[in-house]
Amino acid sequence: MIEMKDIVKSFGNVHAVKSGQFTLKKGEIHSLIGENGAGKSTMMKLLYGMYPIDEGNLRIHGENIPSITPKIAIEKGIGMVHQEFMLVNELTVLENIILGFEPRHGITIDFDKARKTVEQYISQYGMDIQLGKRINQISVGEAQRVEIIKTLTRGANVIILDEPTAVLTPQETRQLFVILQNLRKDGKSLVFISHKLNEVMEISDRISVMRQGNYIGSVNKEETSPSELAKMMIGREVFLNMEKTQAKPGEKVLEVKDVWVSGEKEISKIRGVSLDVREGEIVGIAGIDGNGQSELIEAITGLRQVEKGSVLLDGKDITNLSPKKIRKGGLSHIPEDRNTRGLNRSMSIKENLIAVSVSEPPFCRGLVQNQKDMLEYAKKLSEVFDIRPRDPEISTQSLSGGNAQKVVVAREVSIGGKLLVASQPTRGVDIGAIESIRKILQEVKSKGMGVLLISADLEEILSLSDRIVVMHEGRITGRLKAEEANEDNLGLLMMGGAGPAEERGSTT
Ligand SMILES: Nc1ncnc2c1ncn2[C@@H]1O[C@H](COP(=O)(O)OP(=O)(O)OP(=O)(O)O)[C@@H](O)[C@H]1O
Ligand SMILES: [Mg+2]
Repeated sequence: MIEMKDIVKSFGNVHAVKSGQFTLKKGEIHSLIGENGAGKSTMMKLLYGMYPIDEGNLRIHGENIPSITPKIAIEKGIGMVHQEFMLVNELTVLENIILGFEPRHGITIDFDKARKTVEQYISQYGMDIQLGKRINQISVGEAQRVEIIKTLTRGANVIILDEPTAVLTPQETRQLFVILQNLRKDGKSLVFISHKLNEVMEISDRISVMRQGNYIGSVNKEETSPSELAKMMIGREVFLNMEKTQAKPGEKVLEVKDVWVSGEKEISKIRGVSLDVREGEIVGIAGIDGNGQSELIEAITGLRQVEKGSVLLDGKDITNLSPKKIRKGGLSHIPEDRNTRGLNRSMSIKENLIAVSVSEPPFCRGLVQNQKDMLEYAKKLSEVFDIRPRDPEISTQSLSGGNAQKVVVAREVSIGGKLLVASQPTRGVDIGAIESIRKILQEVKSKGMGVLLISADLEEILSLSDRIVVMHEGRITGRLKAEEANEDNLGLLMMGGAGPAEERGSTT
């Protein structure tokens, strides 16, 4: 279906792709993997015609395509589901799907015909989509299915999915995989980008690996293993199962006392949550996305109104103070959404790294910001956190997904407060970076900081936390010591456990 040979692509002096190779066969699911910044998204954007290719050769169905544009790509049957969805919030699902490609009946849009076509796809591929809802009323998983249908209505037989599971809950990922398998059965060819090797091993027929803009190789799923893939990606072995460092719980740095908060949905309301975090320990919050974890974090960090109850940081009442005041009181926060809350995309890496501390010494002497120290500091952090490219002056706009996340993590753990609230800290980062971010969280804990960890990844919760609380429908359904917890008992509690009002487990 597709053949990309000796592809070269630079952005200024950043060589995003140096020797890109990629082939796609009919009816296969082909995973593209590699470290953050390896050039995966760029390769696929080149295939979809979003940037001109500097050098190299692209063939679609054996036909040489000298200069591709998105219009040509769509005509040739290529569809792309981007990580940031491109849907119009105010329109309905059906309107979004047919936008720009409306079947007409005279001069009016033939909605009946459109609906029939779309309903055909929905049942054929087993998708759960409600056509009449507005985009702002549907879940991320459903929005993604809408994007897939959109490519189908435009006649796609090649569909590129760039990190589709990064935004999904494990349940939604299962649903997506069923759809992908149905599409494959029907002869569609799929490109799947992911950092999760277990997903890659489950869904792919073939896997191609890139490293630093270069093509490393392709392997059949049957003939490889996660450890071989990891080695191909970073050129050395990776050990994600690190030893947990001993917790030395000290004073309480966070106390949440019977907090009530309203949420967007009924199940995301917080109803009387109490928990605490001590110095020198990591407390994990487990739960299916959307059960109030985000709202609880917003309440703690000052982004959402607490209706009843109180929040204490380092012994001081911070209930309903501004986020700025709470930060000053010693709270660091790696937010869930790096694009809207974590980063200022119009500023450089350097400016983002120091954004919270510019008005304080040593960067600010009187009214003059010390540019040289700022640059040195940013350089050092880029080094320690392996932010690529290694140039603090460039805009965060052009960073790859995982490197953008590293900037946020670097800034937050370096300002050194009392409490670190880490929401989905390794979302979208490669396994090498997961390893280093997890190590950093352990170091921070060893230095006496308290860490509140929220992750959709149970494996992450289990491997880092000293204590675990489980949330379901805005309540805590269980509290467990790390050694008592496993995927089974956590899973049960995440589904509601013994009942909404009852709590299980032994520790507090
Ligand atoms: N529009 C752009 N302008 C400048 N540089 C860019 C642009 N897009 C990508 N880059 C750079 O090209 C390199 C490859 O980026 P790309 O987004 O392809 O990586 P990736 O493999 O998808 O990584 P990730 O897993 O983090 O998403 C990175 O160094 C990135 O900073
Ligand atoms: Mg990418």
